Amino acid sequence: MTYTYPTVVFLKNIYINQKMVHTDQFCRVKTTIKQIVRDWSRLGERERSASYGPALDILNCEYPTEAIDRSKIKILTPGSGLGRITWELFSHGFHSEGCEFSWYMILASQFILNRCSADDVVFRIFPYIHETCNLQSWSDATTEATFPDVDLTATPEQGGTMEMGIGDFLDLYNEPAWHSVVTVFFVDTAHNIIEYVERIYKILLPGGLWVSFSNFLSFIFIQVIGK
Ligand SMILES: C[S@@+](CC[C@H](N)C(=O)[O-])C[C@H]1O[C@@H](n2cnc3c(N)ncnc32)[C@H](O)[C@@H]1O
Repeated sequence: MTYTYPTVVFLKNIYINQKMVHTDQFCRVKTTIKQIVRDWSRLGERERSASYGPALDILNCEYPTEAIDRSKIKILTPGSGLGRITWELFSHGFHSEGCEFSWYMILASQFILNRCSADDVVFRIFPYIHETCNLQSWSDATTEATFPDVDLTATPEQGGTMEMGIGDFLDLYNEPAWHSVVTVFFVDTAHNIIEYVERIYKILLPGGLWVSFSNFLSFIFIQVIGK
C-alpha cells in the first residue's frame, strides 16, 4: 500500500521541460491525430462516406440547387469535431455553422481550415505509431497519412458560408434560427439526451429538419408546426 500512491502519481504525471504534464492529455492528442485521419485524409474516406455521406445525400435531396438558394439555408452541426461535415455543407453551398467545445478539436480544426491549402502544403503523419495492440502486423503501426485531402481554398458550389461556434452547444444555441441541424456521433455524447432532443426541437425553424447519424440514434426528423 505504501507504494500505491507514488506509483499512481508517476503514471499520471510526467515532466517535460520541467513542466508537469498529465499523461491523460497524451490520449487526447492521440485521439485528435486519429481524428485528423478520419476527417481530413484519403485514408479516412471510407469512414467519412459511411457517416457523413447519408447526411449529405439527405440534405442534397431536401434542398436541390435548382429549386433553392442554398446560401439562405442555415445548417448547424453541433459536436463538429475537426469540422469536415461543417466544411462539406459549406462547400455544397449552404450557410454552415459548426459548434465544438473541445480545445483539442478547436485548435486542430482551426489549423487545418485556416492554415492548410492542399495546393502548397501537405502534412505527413504516422497516426498509429503509438499503437501496440489492434495491429495485424507491426508495419501497420508505421502507416503514413497525409492531410488535407482537399483544396481548402476551393468552393465547389458558390455562395456557401461557414462559421464556428466555440463553446457548449446548450449554452450557445437557444433560439429558433436553423433550417436544419445535423448531428453525427453527437447525441451519444449527451449527459441528458432529452435535453438535446428538446433543444434541437427548439432551435429548428418551423418545418426544419434534424438529420442524425450515430451509434444508437440515426434518423431524419422533420419538425411540423404544432407537434
Ligand atoms: C464523437 S465526436 C464526433 C465528432 C464529429 N461529429 C465526427 O463525426 O467526427 C463528438 C464531438 O462532440 C463534441 N461535443 C460533445 N458535447 C458537446 C457540447 N455539449 N457542445 C459542443 N461540442 C460537444 C466533442 O468534443 C466531440 O468533438
